Amino acid sequence: MPKMFKKKEEEKVFKVRRGKFVSRLRGMKDILPDEYKYWNLVIKKASELSKAYGFRRIGTPVLENLELFERSSGRSSDIVTKEMFSFIDKNNDKIALRPEATPGIVRTYIEHGMFNLPQPVKLFWLGPVFRHDKPQAGRFRQFSQFDLENIGDPSPVADAELISLAYYFFRELQIDVITQINSIGCAVCRKEYLVKLENFYKERGRRVKLCHDCKKRLAKNPLRLLDCKEKPCLEMAAEAPQIVDSLCDDCRNHFIKVLEYLDELDIPYNLNPTLVRGLDYYNRTVFEIWPVEVEASADAGLDKISDQPTFAKPDAVKEGLPRQSALGGGGRYDGLVEYMGGRPTPACGFGIGIERVILKIKEKNIPLKDEEKGDIFLAQLGDQARRKIMKLFEVLRKAGYSARQAFTKDSLKSQLEMANKMGVKYTLILGQKEIMDGTILIRDMESGIQEIIDYKKILAEVEKRLGNPAK
Ligand code: HAM
Repeated sequence: MPKMFKKKEEEKVFKVRRGKFVSRLRGMKDILPDEYKYWNLVIKKASELSKAYGFRRIGTPVLENLELFERSSGRSSDIVTKEMFSFIDKNNDKIALRPEATPGIVRTYIEHGMFNLPQPVKLFWLGPVFRHDKPQAGRFRQFSQFDLENIGDPSPVADAELISLAYYFFRELQIDVITQINSIGCAVCRKEYLVKLENFYKERGRRVKLCHDCKKRLAKNPLRLLDCKEKPCLEMAAEAPQIVDSLCDDCRNHFIKVLEYLDELDIPYNLNPTLVRGLDYYNRTVFEIWPVEVEASADAGLDKISDQPTFAKPDAVKEGLPRQSALGGGGRYDGLVEYMGGRPTPACGFGIGIERVILKIKEKNIPLKDEEKGDIFLAQLGDQARRKIMKLFEVLRKAGYSARQAFTKDSLKSQLEMANKMGVKYTLILGQKEIMDGTILIRDMESGIQEIIDYKKILAEVEKRLGNPAK
């Protein structure tokens, strides 16, 4: 009986231990150790370039008041109407996981009185954002953005600087991209254009051919009809009047200046009259960064600008571009700071999706340095040797060598196998005999030749073979 009791208890413990497995949420990704070499590369490039162009890093909370996004990203934007992760917290406050960085950065600018700093304030941001989108290749519900904002600069140079920085970011990561660019004017000239656009869609039975979403957009946000990816909507958008033909003089001159700077800097771009972006805060310049393969298949009819912009209609764009193809996007948002409670302040910025950049790097098989690889491996046999080698490891690490080890392994064979995997040039081997003799073995991993060296001269010997990392 006591025996049986013991067994049942054991069974119970076993059941508790092997509980039901809970998998990760749909559209969310784990980043495994092998992936981090890509992340480190992309983050390093983003940080270096931002610093070189005078942007300073800023961080904002993952959670914000829901209202921040409703007011800035826009109540009619897909992000707010369909994609926000929002909830009511324990204080009955309406909260959202940030779906993009810009609103939080603008709030920070106002809340921390950054308008008192010399303008413009140039900010660089990296972090995860959340959108309850339909997951598919390159589209996740949690993804990370590299985001830059220039707050306080009205000049077209600021737009061109951002676009060229984005271009160099991709070029230096060996990803071929082209910028799609358009101007959506200001509140005044856009108003006139929207009347023309609505009239166009109301003419000759076009409205009935629109997709379900666009029928709604026609009343709420007709500009978005232009970037719908449904085939009939795409075809109609190709025939629609173009906003650049309705720009006021100031907006037109601003746009021409941006393009002139890009020409001067040899930054490739395509004028894309249907590019309007999906967020409500933009005015004047809007742009997206597309990988060249996508651009090539959808580019029929988009012109590069001459002195005076004339815009060719996109030849009823064939299959429709998968929206998730854009690697980055941004534009000017001169009204947002004031609209969010700050002083009237011009601004522009962009965001790049880091996962999409990494997908591109992987797709192109761009060779990356394996960060786990080391210069030298330290192997030990026996407990005394292990203690000594742990100390030696610290000495070599502090001297700047990427030393590798497997202190918990006992067998020399498995330690040498690890050393091989880590691609080290040399392995130092310490056993009982070497401790007695005051020596250590150094093994050339390529030739397999082992030499005995004086333990006290290890650093000099390692420096002779691998050089001094401090120099
Ligand atoms: P956005 O175009 O919504 O702009 O996002 C920027 C980039 O984030 C996209 O080009 C894409 O690379 C990536 N992205 C978007 N959705 C997903 C997704 N579901 N999964 C993976 N990657 C995605 C903005 O967020 C603006 N705040 C950019 C900006 C900054 N405008 C001015 N300043």
